[in-house]
Amino acid sequence: MARRRVVAITGATGSIGYSISAHIARGELYGDGVPVHMVLMDLEPHKPRLVSMRMELEDCASPLLERVDVTTDPRAAFCDAEAVFLVGAAPRRAGMERRDLLARNAAIFREHGQAMRDVGSCDAKLLVVGNPVNTNAYVLARYAPNIQRENVTGLLRLDYNRALQYVSSCHNVNPRLVDRLAVWGNHSTTVFPDLRYITVGGLPVQHASVCCIETGLVSHVRARGAEVIGLRGSSSALSAAVAAVEHMRDWINGTEREWTSMAVQSTGWYGVPDGIVFGVPVRCIGRGSYDVVTGIEFDGAAHDMLRATIAELVSERNEASGILCA
Ligand code: LMR
Repeated sequence: MARRRVVAITGATGSIGYSISAHIARGELYGDGVPVHMVLMDLEPHKPRLVSMRMELEDCASPLLERVDVTTDPRAAFCDAEAVFLVGAAPRRAGMERRDLLARNAAIFREHGQAMRDVGSCDAKLLVVGNPVNTNAYVLARYAPNIQRENVTGLLRLDYNRALQYVSSCHNVNPRLVDRLAVWGNHSTTVFPDLRYITVGGLPVQHASVCCIETGLVSHVRARGAEVIGLRGSSSALSAAVAAVEHMRDWINGTEREWTSMAVQSTGWYGVPDGIVFGVPVRCIGRGSYDVVTGIEFDGAAHDMLRATIAELVSERNEASGILCA
């Protein structure tokens, strides 16, 4: 039997954390044969729900779930974790933009960054799910300088999956057949789903067809989160949880798909200021690593969309820095 892996989830009792834990208990993160120790963290008032969640996970009788701990202390949650899902954040309600959450969540991610700095393993894999994803991840990285730079990531996989579904249904093919789709920038209304390089069934797609789909796709992906909130009264949970598990699973194990997209810390590529956590196409090459796809050219509308999402993240970063310094 393989070595046991420790996975922590913050905000565990919320809808997304709850759903993520079920996927992990079923072995969807590390795969068959890898036992898991789950650490569920949430705020003190949610303690009874944490305990009930542990009971439910035990009741799954999963052969891979060796142990479940619950805690309200981020240090206890992070100290042995190899993979951390940072879901805990103030949620977006109807009528709010993600950046309205910035002030409340910057403080949470500073605290979690400090806890990671104090007790975290430098090669722990961190995935920020709570909005505003990119800037929360930026704050986390800033306060956890011990964590390897490439290991602080944010969830763009939800936008990627939304785009993937849209494109596959336009082409009337299974999503598995679509590749080289890129999602750039902020998980917000400036996100840029980019079809310029897509392949369907391994073949490039005619430019005219891409342009025609792209017009609808961009607004579809940008508006989808708000549409779900409008109907459901709360943020996407099921799709966000699936996206989070897929992000981490592909990062850990690699994927047959040539490209997927993750928000990762820029080292200056594509004109994105150093340290900003930005959605880019990546190759998940297995053994816990990924490579950013570099060398993609931008002009015309693509260039404008890239610049707009960079500008939004620079302004969010400045705003968060102002709040944290105040
Ligand atoms: C989503 O995209 O559905 C979530 O991030 C919720 C939101 O705030 O849009």
